[in-house]
Amino acid sequence: MGSAQKAFETAKKMTHYGHLAKNVLLKPLEVQQLPAHIQIEITTYCNQDCLSCGRRDIIHDPKHMTFEQFKHIYDQIQPENINLSGLGEPLLNPHVFDMIKYSREHGSIVNFPTNLTLNDKVIRKLIDSKIDQIKVSIDAVDKDTYIIVRQSDKFDIVKRNIETINRIKQEEGLEHPEIRLNYSFQKANMDDLDELVEFAHEHQIGTIYVQDLNYFAVEAEKEELCGFSKEHLIKVLDSADKKAQEYGISTNIGNWRRNMDDFYNKTLPAEQYEANDTKCTFPWVSCFIDVHCNVLPCPVFVWEKESQSLGNALEVPFAEIWNGPMYQQLRAEFKQNIRRNPICKRCVPPNIFDMKLIFEKMLLRG
Ligand SMILES: C[S@@+](CC[C@H](N)C(=O)[O-])C[C@H]1O[C@@H](n2cnc3c(N)ncnc32)[C@H](O)[C@@H]1O
Ligand code: SF4
Repeated sequence: MGSAQKAFETAKKMTHYGHLAKNVLLKPLEVQQLPAHIQIEITTYCNQDCLSCGRRDIIHDPKHMTFEQFKHIYDQIQPENINLSGLGEPLLNPHVFDMIKYSREHGSIVNFPTNLTLNDKVIRKLIDSKIDQIKVSIDAVDKDTYIIVRQSDKFDIVKRNIETINRIKQEEGLEHPEIRLNYSFQKANMDDLDELVEFAHEHQIGTIYVQDLNYFAVEAEKEELCGFSKEHLIKVLDSADKKAQEYGISTNIGNWRRNMDDFYNKTLPAEQYEANDTKCTFPWVSCFIDVHCNVLPCPVFVWEKESQSLGNALEVPFAEIWNGPMYQQLRAEFKQNIRRNPICKRCVPPNIFDMKLIFEKMLLRG
């Protein structure tokens, strides 16, 4: 891209993000801009059965989204940033590489979380698809913990796949895909967070995302997943934060520290949980589209399939759903901090400060 073209693209993005910032601050009921970020559930098939993931109780009849359905939705929104995941393993969708290529060719930054347990052929295709970022859900730094958390003996495969990607990137002088480590934080792996930072450093990985779990679908497993003290939580986070800063690895631990009470509160048994009063900004900037093409307010709804859809993007034009009566009512309620849905009541939504960081990150890309 020439420098004039690049300047034009940057100016276009700045204008777009200016509108987004205005929407987040002013919260109009009707939003002129379509969502800058979307998450699309391209499959509900999976090859794992992780302890923290309620998938086993939610998905009884798995399904892949077709490429035609995907294009139908994508073409109407053309988001800046797209995450191709939901309650399943994205790499199992037979059209995943077409979806990545299509989104990239139309200007989106593309990413998804993956368990990265598939074979070498898939790794090559993933690299060739030019996906911008993969979030490798590693959740452990050794075999034994991996078996507890991910309920399968695939730690060595994941590690080998990361190393293969690194080797190919180095041999071919590639910058993509950027690897981020996702770490679903729970009792079994919390004491290894320092080690995870070491792992990231050894594998030239620049970003770690410490995932705060959503317990909506796994209340029964909560005792096994939680039951640690706030002091212990703070200790492991601070130690890992210090190490990550020394290595120049970026993490979201700052976000945990800013919202510590809310995150800790979430780990308590459901009857002790107190809903926080953070205002949610998602309905102004993003949405989640499930494998049936139902539009839902945000990705947390992967764990609440029974929620009322705001509309089906195969049946109604997306723009009509985005500014339809149900979305407007939701925005009106969210403006007053009324979060009716039980899953919203158990969420710590990113506040305006966190959203600012997300926007900055998106602006600096590409
Ligand atoms: C549902 S998975 C789907 C993508 C892929 N199968 C994977 O594991 O990366 C997306 C992310 O959610 C994380 N996750 C699992 N259980 C969770 C929970 N209860 N709350 C929040 N995130 C969870 C996973 O570790 C993973 O990083
Ligand atoms: S977290 Fe991912 S890999 Fe694990 S069961 Fe859920 S969808 Fe599958």
